[in-house]
Amino acid sequence: MDNFSYCSPTRYVFGRGVEKETGRLTAAMGCGKVLMVSGGGSARRSGLLSRVEDSLREAGVEWVELTGIRPNPTDDRVREGIGLCRRERVEGILAVGGGSVIDTAKAIAGGVPYEGDFWDFWAGKAVMETALPVGVVLTIPAAGSEGSGNSVITKLDGMHKISLRTDMALRPRFAIMNPEVTFTLPPYQTASGIADMMAHIMERYFTTTEEVETTDRIAEGVLKAIIAEAPRVMAEPTNYDARANIMWAGTLAHNGICGCGRREDWSSHGLEHELSAVYGVTHGAGLAVVFPAWMTFMAEKKPAKIAQFGRRVFGVEESDNHSAALEAVDRLKVFFKSISLPLTLNELGIENADIELLVQKFHEDKGLPFGPYHPLYPEDTSAIYKLME
Ligand code: NZQ
Ligand code: ZN
Repeated sequence: MDNFSYCSPTRYVFGRGVEKETGRLTAAMGCGKVLMVSGGGSARRSGLLSRVEDSLREAGVEWVELTGIRPNPTDDRVREGIGLCRRERVEGILAVGGGSVIDTAKAIAGGVPYEGDFWDFWAGKAVMETALPVGVVLTIPAAGSEGSGNSVITKLDGMHKISLRTDMALRPRFAIMNPEVTFTLPPYQTASGIADMMAHIMERYFTTTEEVETTDRIAEGVLKAIIAEAPRVMAEPTNYDARANIMWAGTLAHNGICGCGRREDWSSHGLEHELSAVYGVTHGAGLAVVFPAWMTFMAEKKPAKIAQFGRRVFGVEESDNHSAALEAVDRLKVFFKSISLPLTLNELGIENADIELLVQKFHEDKGLPFGPYHPLYPEDTSAIYKLME
């Protein structure tokens, strides 16, 4: 096991009706005035935003709004938010939504106290040391941004989708998580969220670090819970306990607990981020196409850990590692198909993908080679994208 330093400082407030705590928690993080960031309208339509506003009013917290944040959020809205915060002299940010809203809120929070352009952090030209405090009211279990120190933003100039990972600066102070709020999620978003949270665990599971049995078992346990709850949540979208289990799994998948003491990979996320940057696809659905392709490729290079995943998570019985790894990929695909996720680029809605462009952007954004599990060079990256056809 590798040395590690782990701190997940977010207060998770979980259960029915917890959005009424928003005002009190916002005031408790020292904010009398916040920027409230939200998405395309689902939170307004469901009545959640009104309840959050009531709670802020009761706690004496003022707010200004930035609405209409779209999936795969872009740098222009971040700049708009930074300007608004400076003009209105807000003291913190409240995100009401999913990963796209939370990541925009985080990027604004990091950009406000910084004199240069906020993108410097994403471009690796500056290190983020400080940010305005961020609170979250989560509406979709998927990205895990409510407990992560990350923010993923696309720079429109060149369509570069980059994930900034901070240790502490961007970890939310609190995350309000009411599973009932997720009853309104469309099936495709529910399923895509499930693929995304599984991918967050698998990026950490497929490691070259030896002797990590404790985090392996945490990861396998959360994966098995997700696989067991997924059919329930798809069949009964208003089943509170199924929604609750999936929601908590989404946080545990990405708040760092599954990654302690091990090298993480993140190639599949890099490969997917190019798909959502270039073709605008839903991140989790993209991962349902990317991850099996990456695993098929790795079954030829380094099958042992993939075989272990197959045996422990899906009950694969083959004793030979190569066959077990390939069987693991098949089982994962069957699972994704059972919740109506796409398995090919075509099914994802991408016809005649420009693989050359995707490969070039992947190495431009991630480096050459990239891939701690097994280093990827352009010919490898290209082979993995071709496995998605
Ligand atoms: O915008 P609204 O109207 O709210 O609709 C959203 C959006 O269309 C809808 N939705 C959300 N909650 C809903 C709802 N519809 C009905 N009822 C509800 N309760 O769902 C759609 C997707 O929302 P989005 O925020 O984009 O989803 P998600 O949480 O999957 O976030 C995806 C983004 O997060 C990034 C992804 O790359 C992508 O840009 N990621 C962020 C990470 C992080 N910060 O740690 C890690 C991830 O790996 C990921 O890369
Ligand atoms: Zn993800």
